Amino acid sequence: MKRRTTLLQVDPRDPALEAITQAAAVIRAGRLVAFPTETVYGLGADALSETAVQGIFVAKERPAYDPLIVHLAGATELSWVAGNVPAVAQELAAHFWPGPLTLVLPRGAGVPDAVTAGGATVAVRVPAHPVARALIRVAGVPIAAPSANRFGRLSPTRAEDVLADLEGRIDLVLDGGPTPVGVESTVLSLVTPVPTVLRPGGVSREALEAVLGSVIVAERPVEPEEEEVPSPGTLPQHYAPRAELVLYRGAGEALLATLRRDALRQHAAGRRVGLLLAEEDLGAFAGLPLILRAPGAREDLEEVARRLYATLRALDAAGVDLILARDFGAEGLGLAIRDRLTRAAGGTVVFVDLEA
Ligand code: TXA
Ligand code: MG
Repeated sequence: MKRRTTLLQVDPRDPALEAITQAAAVIRAGRLVAFPTETVYGLGADALSETAVQGIFVAKERPAYDPLIVHLAGATELSWVAGNVPAVAQELAAHFWPGPLTLVLPRGAGVPDAVTAGGATVAVRVPAHPVARALIRVAGVPIAAPSANRFGRLSPTRAEDVLADLEGRIDLVLDGGPTPVGVESTVLSLVTPVPTVLRPGGVSREALEAVLGSVIVAERPVEPEEEEVPSPGTLPQHYAPRAELVLYRGAGEALLATLRRDALRQHAAGRRVGLLLAEEDLGAFAGLPLILRAPGAREDLEEVARRLYATLRALDAAGVDLILARDFGAEGLGLAIRDRLTRAAGGTVVFVDLEA
């Protein structure tokens, strides 16, 4: 199973055709290529080849019950993979594609079972990243791609993150630098009576509501148990750093005071404690025996999302045992950030004030 992983640099705005052609040949040969999308790096295989897709599950150690997103070059290719395309899907595609929105639709006949986990639906999106678009176009096949990490771990936003998890397990990595959105796509089901967000992500709930009128955001399942898992990215423990993580939700000063108190208590108990804060919070914690990291300012959720996973990785790299993370609200990208931090916390959330 050990294989040589080639790393190829590409210009994220204007990737050289030579590199893309080389990567496309790897896909066509039924092998695995990690590539940047605007959200996170994906681990791609020919979506129409059952054996190629099975390779993804092996490399990631991903359970076969977790279906994959099929990436297309354009909405006109929807008929390749979807059984029927409702008008609302066309409307959403016109608004949000290419971009970080994944639609769950009735599955088409040509899609292998490995992609859909044997289910009756298929998840599809048209990514916006020039490298992803060029790769799909030149390969000439739809590309099935989960995030390019081992199952349950943080999604990679840089080529080095992909290598940390998958070097020696995949054939090629296209290094197009850091990904601009930083959190995964929004997964929206169109097979439910009302369009339902299964996973908040790069397209905000507000943006969807502006087009659809209303959407439902699915409640997080408590425990999978025997019940069917609707979307394993929605499992309670997922997207996790190595260190234990606790999420703190609540309003302004009270939130920071509680974080500070709990962090110092844990430090006194002998733990190496990291804090994930907003930039403007840092001053209030300066000089304390805590490891501080901030992905961005509270008012700049795009930057917080873009740097969220790299910041969690930096805390892991700093050797912390425990991460106490602040919440960034539920507006816009805040909802996706909250979702990922809640999952990283395995559901351990401290509510400071019932207000927020
Ligand atoms: O931004 C993204 O979506 C990235 C990039 C690479 O495109 N991909 C990604 O894939 O995050 P993955 O496999 O890590 O997460 C896909 C999520 C999982 O939670 C999976 O369970 C869900 O989408 N999903 C896939 N197919 C589904 C389906 N047919 N029905 C419901 N959920 C589905
Ligand atoms: Mg993933």
